[in-house]
Amino acid sequence: MTEFEPLVDSFGRRHTSLRISVTDRCNIRCFYCMPDENIRFKPQDELLTFEEIERFTRIVAKMGVSKLRITGGEPLVRSNLSYLIERLVAIPGIVDVALTTNGILLADHVAALKNAGLHRLNISLDGLTEETFERIARRSGLDRVLAGIFKAQEIGFEKIRLNAVSIKGITENEVIPLGEFARQHDLELRFIEFMPLDAENQWQSTQVLCGEEIRAQLEETFGPLLPSPRGDLSQPSMDFHFADGLGRIGFINPVSQPFCSNCNRLRITAEGAVRNCLFSLKEWSVRSLLRDLATDDEIADVVRDAVRAKKTGHGIDSPDFEKPDLAMYQIGG
Ligand code: 5AD
Ligand code: SF4
Repeated sequence: MTEFEPLVDSFGRRHTSLRISVTDRCNIRCFYCMPDENIRFKPQDELLTFEEIERFTRIVAKMGVSKLRITGGEPLVRSNLSYLIERLVAIPGIVDVALTTNGILLADHVAALKNAGLHRLNISLDGLTEETFERIARRSGLDRVLAGIFKAQEIGFEKIRLNAVSIKGITENEVIPLGEFARQHDLELRFIEFMPLDAENQWQSTQVLCGEEIRAQLEETFGPLLPSPRGDLSQPSMDFHFADGLGRIGFINPVSQPFCSNCNRLRITAEGAVRNCLFSLKEWSVRSLLRDLATDDEIADVVRDAVRAKKTGHGIDSPDFEKPDLAMYQIGG
């Protein structure tokens, strides 16, 4: 179904996955992603409309993109998101559409998302105590997230993933309860190392709770973690399961074990800027092209430029690492 040339970068990485941010707004304020106060959100008219997102996705689908992930900010604060999902799942060439959500509004929307054809859900859950939740999110809401998870299971979402950001001094005591929770409720749990994408520039490498430390903690309590077969080499997570078959655990270790060499991901921000990496210092805006009715070829050329300019990796551990000016909520997780 590829009609344009595939999106291959100068290191031979073929790009087949697009992360679409639909808003920079959020109903909580996780410190690793957003400032607590004085946030200037983008006005509505600067965000891509659903029609513009759909058109962009149709173009990149012709270039070989087959997997989509909807992110934010918090995607469920954008009204009528299910309508967008319905349009995206219908695009020829798109085989997988997933949503990353903080879960706060999930119980209200999950049935509509399922009806719209959403394939998969990732829900952020960094801990299981309200105290940890509020320390990280600076707002309350753990009960609503848990209700969202259970409702999603009830209406038939399978293979739900929980994303847990791991931060030294904050989440060590959550590792075992989260593991227990995942085992009990048949959820896949993924620990993600804290990356330098917070808005207040507080990140320090000493705050990264490494995947290996978490793994050791889990094994001490639940027994050995056995590697699960790696289906898709480009996916960033290293997946394991316990010998008794209960609970699947993944580790996303961007800081301690960068996985850039297999990266197949491309991003578009809520205001229509194409990014070739979370940590890219440059963006390629397609919003005005989409608005000025540029041709599909012209838009495809900009995407190709972005992919061609992709660097080998993020270089977080290098002395001349430069953090992008944008924080996670402005890029899309
Ligand atoms: N480091 C690691 N993960 C992060 N996320 C947001 N900010 C960061 C960060 N600085 C993750 C959250 C959420 C997803 C959108 O991205 O867990 O699940
Ligand atoms: Fe909101 Fe997600 Fe950022 Fe947390 S990580 S502030 S839930 S957008």
